[in-house]
Amino acid sequence: MILKKLLPLALSAMFITVAATAQEKLTEETQYRPNFHFTPKGNWMNDPNGLFYADGTYHLYFQYWPYGNKWGPMHWGHATTKDLIKWEEQPIALYPDRFGYIFSGSAVLDINNTSGFGDGKTAPVVAIFTYHDPVKEKAGTIDVESQGLAYSLDNGYTWTKYDAGNPIIKNPGIRDFRDPKVTWDSVHNQWIMVLAAQDRSQLYTSKNLKDWNYLSDFGKNIGAHGGVWECPDFFPIKVEGTGETKWVLIQSLNPGGANGGSGTQYFIGDFDGKTFTLDKAFAERVTKEKAVWLDYGKDNYAGVTWGNAPVKDGHRMMIGWMSNWEYAEVVPTNGWRSSTTIPRELKLVKKGNNYALITSPAEALKNYIEKTDSQKNVAVKGMAILSAKGKTDFTKADISFTVQGLKQDVYTFTFTNDAGETLSFGINNKERNLFVDRSKSSDASTFHKFTATPSKAALGEIQKSGTFRILMDKTSIEVFYNDGETVMTEIFFTSQPFNTFSATATSSFEISDLKINQLKF
Ligand code: FRU
Repeated sequence: MILKKLLPLALSAMFITVAATAQEKLTEETQYRPNFHFTPKGNWMNDPNGLFYADGTYHLYFQYWPYGNKWGPMHWGHATTKDLIKWEEQPIALYPDRFGYIFSGSAVLDINNTSGFGDGKTAPVVAIFTYHDPVKEKAGTIDVESQGLAYSLDNGYTWTKYDAGNPIIKNPGIRDFRDPKVTWDSVHNQWIMVLAAQDRSQLYTSKNLKDWNYLSDFGKNIGAHGGVWECPDFFPIKVEGTGETKWVLIQSLNPGGANGGSGTQYFIGDFDGKTFTLDKAFAERVTKEKAVWLDYGKDNYAGVTWGNAPVKDGHRMMIGWMSNWEYAEVVPTNGWRSSTTIPRELKLVKKGNNYALITSPAEALKNYIEKTDSQKNVAVKGMAILSAKGKTDFTKADISFTVQGLKQDVYTFTFTNDAGETLSFGINNKERNLFVDRSKSSDASTFHKFTATPSKAALGEIQKSGTFRILMDKTSIEVFYNDGETVMTEIFFTSQPFNTFSATATSSFEISDLKINQLKF
C-alpha cells in the first residue's frame, strides 16, 4: 500500500505510539504475543528480508520501524534461530542513509568471495536491498527506488554499506522497482537477481554481486495483477522422486490476493540462464485459475526462502509476514505489530502432467511436543467434541487428522472459548472449497471488514477424504490440507484462549488418526 506509506513521517510516527498502561501491556503480552511465531519485542514489522544460513544459525532480517507501531521509515531488524522455531532478536542491522529507507531485499553467503569484500578469514555476507528515497518520493519523481548493497564480515551481525558503489542498480524509469532477491544459479554459474518492477518481475545476472546486467522480464499479463508485484523469489528445485529440476518464481502482489488484499502466487517453468519460460501445463492452469496461490488465507505475504538452508532432498525453507496490508496497521496490538508465519518447507511434486508446490511446517516443531491426545477413529454423527473443554490449550497446539466418507455436505471444525467466540475451518463440498472463518473470533467481532468474510480455496472436485494439519498459536491458525497441497493462514484476536474443539456436519462422516499435540513454549 504505497499510498499509505506516504503518510507516516518519522516524527508523526513517533508521537502516534500509544502510551499503554503497565496493566494493558501485560494483558496484551499474555493475550496476544505468539507462543511460537517470531514477533519483534516492540514496534512495527513487515516483510522478511535477507534470509541466509551460516554456522548453524538461520538469519532473518525484517522490514522494521523501530519508533512506532505503524509503518515508518524502514530499517532492517534482525533475528536469529538455530531450529527455525525459537527466535532471538538481535540489534538493528541496517539504518536508512542518504539514499533513502532500507526496503526489502535479500542476503547471500558469498563463500567463494566473488564480491571481493572478504578479508580472507570469513566468507562475506552480501545484502542487496532497495533504497527508497523519501525526498524523491515527495518531489514526485519516478526514480524513487534503486538497489543498494551492504556486506558483513561477521556472519550478519554488523554491516558496512558499499559507499563506493551504491546504488549498484539505478532506477531505470520505473516507479515501483524493488525487493531484489539474489540466488546462486549453479546450473549457469552466475548470480541471478529477481526484482519486482510494477507489473512484472525482472531478472539480472552478475559474476561479483556488484555489477549487474539486465536479462529479461516475466509476468506482464500472466497470473494475478490486482495490484503491484512485490517481493519475488526465483530458484531451482528438484521435482520429488525424479532427476528433473524446475524453476520456481514466487510472486507476491498487493492488493489482489486470493481472498483480497495481499497475497502470494507462484509459477513453475524453465530457465535457460536468461529467460524464464512457464511450463506448458502450468501455463494452462494459470490461465484457467487466473493464478496459482501459495496460500489462500489472508495472512501470508512477502514470503521468501533461505537460499542455503540445510534442508533434506533439496527442499527450500520459506517464511512469510503473517499479516495483510489491508489491516496490518490496525490489528489490536499496540506494543508490537505483526509476526512471521511458521517457517515452511517447500517441495515440488508432479501430479499427472502438472507441477505443484507442497508446503509443510518446519520439522523441528516436533521437538516441542509436550503431550499428545490421540484418537484412532471418531464417528461424527452430526457433531462430535474432539477436545473437551479445558483439555487442550489451543494457544500452542499442533493438530492432525484424516477425514473420510465425505459426501456433498459441509464439514466444519470449530474452536470455541467461554466468551462464545469461534474460529472455524473445513471443507464445503457443496461449494467445493476449503474455508477458514474468523468472523466470530473476537467480541469486537472484527478489527477490519476483511475479517468478516470467510476465506475460501477452490478445491476443484468434491472431496471424499482428506488430511489436515493445523497449527494454532494465540493469534493465528495455519491450515495445511492434504499434506500442504492447499494452505490457508489467518490471524485472529480473541478475548480469551480457545479451549474446545469440535466437528459438525449434517450427515455422518469419519475422523481417523486424530492427534492433538500440546506444544510446550
Ligand atoms: C511489501 C513492501 C515491499 C517494500 C516493503 C516496504 O510489503 O511493500 O515491496 O520493499 O514492503 O516496507
